[in-house]
Amino acid sequence: MAAEMALVKPISKFSSVAPKFGNLRSGSYSKFTTIKMTATSQPPPPTSTTRPSKKAAKTTIKETLLTPRFYTTDFDEMETLFNTEINKNLNQAEFEALLQEFKTDYNQTHFVRSKEFKEAADKLQGPLRQIFVEFLERSCTAEFSGFLLYKELGRRLKKTNPVVAEIFSLMSRDEARHAGFLNKGLSDFNLALDLGFLTKARKYTFFKPKFIFYATYLSEKIGYWRYITIYRHLKANPEYQCYPIFKYFENWCQDENRHGDFFSALMKAQPQFLNDWKAKLWSRFFCLSVYVTMYLNDCQRTAFYEGIGLNTKEFDMHVIIETNRTTARIFPAVLDVENPEFKRKLDRMVEINEKLLAVGETEDASFVKNLKRIPLIAALASELLAAYLMPPIESGSLDFAEFEPQVVY
Ligand SMILES: [Fe+2]
Ligand SMILES: [Fe+2]
Repeated sequence: MAAEMALVKPISKFSSVAPKFGNLRSGSYSKFTTIKMTATSQPPPPTSTTRPSKKAAKTTIKETLLTPRFYTTDFDEMETLFNTEINKNLNQAEFEALLQEFKTDYNQTHFVRSKEFKEAADKLQGPLRQIFVEFLERSCTAEFSGFLLYKELGRRLKKTNPVVAEIFSLMSRDEARHAGFLNKGLSDFNLALDLGFLTKARKYTFFKPKFIFYATYLSEKIGYWRYITIYRHLKANPEYQCYPIFKYFENWCQDENRHGDFFSALMKAQPQFLNDWKAKLWSRFFCLSVYVTMYLNDCQRTAFYEGIGLNTKEFDMHVIIETNRTTARIFPAVLDVENPEFKRKLDRMVEINEKLLAVGETEDASFVKNLKRIPLIAALASELLAAYLMPPIESGSLDFAEFEPQVVY
């Protein structure tokens, strides 16, 4: 997993067309829990990304509504879904082929660091240094979140469907590698994320299996498009290549792409999640959640994107449009993100979000802050609803794909 998907709250029952952004309503913008970070005087040893130095000083980072989440699901239902006796749609030949692909392990020797990393990190100073650290932390957390979920699915599905289970285990191998590589990047800045602590301390968001499929598929594909876009941009504009991790993105993003393709195969094996009106509404809901979360997050961090020579909004719109085109090959409906009105709505959400953040930073008493938030949250909810209700694009993988498959290798 690579991208962040935080805005949506799990909804156990489909009761309304409107997306429910529960945390926004309850005003949890101001509620932070803490994630333990460790400041190390020495980089941690290469194999101990989850074990910080005992001598290290501790510091904290803020966790907000838009921070990458950890997910859990109904593993019993997952077992039923992947039981070949019950589900005759499971195309075991396709899963066997995917398994061989994962076993090939194309990136086994890819994630090897060089001394360039530390030298580049030392040159990064001032606000850009801080924003780089935050980028590494968030990316590491998102990758690690994928690792935990896939590892557990690999363990739980072993008996019911060993082929699917092994693929999950191999995907967790990839995500551990990605998270570890990012955590080693943090060591260049004399920091390390305490992943063991994170595993225990973070709250897990529960999604039913079908929502896990939508969310993780989108997360993998949007991650692919983010990484490849940054990689191509920096290849064309090497003067912005200020930290060598981006040079690894070309092969790295192929892992994310393969993970997304696996979820695509999983969804095809569960046509009940793709072929009715509810599936269309949920598909749009998850697209909106993922796109809005990314847009709001990135617009709060324009210094990072500008630091590597990108225009944040242009970068995000490119990623959203490409992800949406890819997603239209499998989801039964997607948003019309290429309609200029969609971007206008996103931009209005950014403005409202900035005002919400500004309220949080005032010295006002908390009830005053909450009062000030009410109209802003209402305005944000109204923009979200309007974006959700824009005429969608009917799509789907099997019979009426609107977009041509794209070459990704
Ligand atoms: Fe990943
Ligand atoms: Fe992934």
